[in-house]
Amino acid sequence: MLDCFGRDINYLRISITDRCNLRCLYCMPEEGIDDKLTHSSILSLEDMARLVKISTSVGVRKVRLTGGEPLVRRNIAKLIDDISSLGLIDDIAITTNGVLFSDLAPELKKAGLNRVNFSLDSLQAEKFNYITRLGQVDKVIRSINTALEMDFQPVKINTVVIRGFNDDEILSLAKLAYDYPLHIRFIEFMPIGNLLYWKKNRLMKCEEVEDIIAKEYQLIDPNYIPGNGPAKYFNLQGGQGSVGFISPMSNHFCHECNRIRMTADGKLRGCLYDKKEIDLRFALENGASDEELRKLFIKAINDKPSRHHMNSGWGNNNARKMYQIGG
Ligand code: 5AD
Ligand code: SF4
Repeated sequence: MLDCFGRDINYLRISITDRCNLRCLYCMPEEGIDDKLTHSSILSLEDMARLVKISTSVGVRKVRLTGGEPLVRRNIAKLIDDISSLGLIDDIAITTNGVLFSDLAPELKKAGLNRVNFSLDSLQAEKFNYITRLGQVDKVIRSINTALEMDFQPVKINTVVIRGFNDDEILSLAKLAYDYPLHIRFIEFMPIGNLLYWKKNRLMKCEEVEDIIAKEYQLIDPNYIPGNGPAKYFNLQGGQGSVGFISPMSNHFCHECNRIRMTADGKLRGCLYDKKEIDLRFALENGASDEELRKLFIKAINDKPSRHHMNSGWGNNNARKMYQIGG
């Protein structure tokens, strides 16, 4: 379905839980979240599968499950299986921190998962543990290897570039994209989440990251990469994978945005940064029919704003955190 600005909305991102097994400095407070959704406010997986089916009637063809950390939700494989069995979704993906992926991979593959994006901000054990407060990088590396071995193509890695923390690892990450068929996406650090950690001087624009890589590798126009969202991609001459740059801060890509989002408590959002939400859970609790729910999807698409205004003071203004919306 086309929205009011002519964008074809065909991609639904679902945050299936607000819980996480890590505590990244920029995302969560150390002690975990104190505004956790209660069990009764979180949609059942059956309701989520039903809503995905309804979303296909307005043109959704691609689904991504996010969190928090999606793999901490029990029975995620069942949800993937239900979505896959609809036969109407071309692409089912997850975004995970990779801690639990390796062990679950066979089950997820069998259920119909096509692709996986890993969040990984450092390759060094101590630094990884520092930024995630709890994590062990070995587990994530093992999961990335598993994804490659099991042919979850393409395997993407998301790295939030934070000046003074991991800007010295840009070339090590680019080397991974050279040595392996991995797609490393460098993301600009946004003022969202734990704002005590976000600082203007920690933001490093993609342009600068690209310059650093371009001094070492020849960047060439990419081959087609499925699910190529808002990133600007390059292959590395002679290498296997690609590097990508996601620049929500320096160069917003709202005019190409094809997504809507659903939170774990059943709220539809047209934009990560827009406060407006449409309450599917309330409708479900009141016994809404498929047709009534479909109308709410249409409303969310019609209400989708033309762009975000993160640069003009978004900050604490937003009622939701990243772990509630799913990145
Ligand atoms: N800025 C940029 N990216 C962020 N993510 C979480 N918080 C931020 C932020 N403030 C990323 C995570 C993950 C994805 C879901 O969103 O690192 O890769
Ligand atoms: Fe968990 Fe992702 Fe937030 Fe890190 S950024 S605490 S992995 S939800």
